[in-house]
Amino acid sequence: MTATDFKPAAVRGAVRTLAGAYYTSPEIYATEQERIFGGRWVCVGRSEQVAAAGDFMLVEPAGENLIIVRDGDGNVHAHYNVCRHRGTRMCEQTAGQLGETIQCPYHAWTYGLDGRLLTARHMQDTPDFRKEDWPLNSARSRNGRASCSSI
Ligand code: FES
Repeated sequence: MTATDFKPAAVRGAVRTLAGAYYTSPEIYATEQERIFGGRWVCVGRSEQVAAAGDFMLVEPAGENLIIVRDGDGNVHAHYNVCRHRGTRMCEQTAGQLGETIQCPYHAWTYGLDGRLLTARHMQDTPDFRKEDWPLNSARSRNGRASCSSI
């Protein structure tokens, strides 16, 4: 069954219900992720969950793992939880307080809460390496909402 096969399945008295496959089909789930959660604004939480600078939480809209974090200026960001160096997942804890930076546990590349790369160990001798070219990839966020469609 695919999402294009969508039909109300059963009428029980005055109530229509969906067939059970709409709740269990991996194909329909994937289509929902792509068409609904992957391309539209999605509420991923309440702004109170990241009330103070450095507060963060992990969310997974559309199958992407995002770090929702408030920076020192009060802005909420939605960074992909992937280090720009070698792709290590940076946060494993689901929520908490980061302090002033996000540091990768592998080689300690360190990012500002706004996603800017601040320090990159072992890169000082790499020709043409510029920290400003390697910020965290981010999804769009606004007022605590995040969308994965902007990458
Ligand atoms: S993988 Fe993150 S610093 Fe190397």
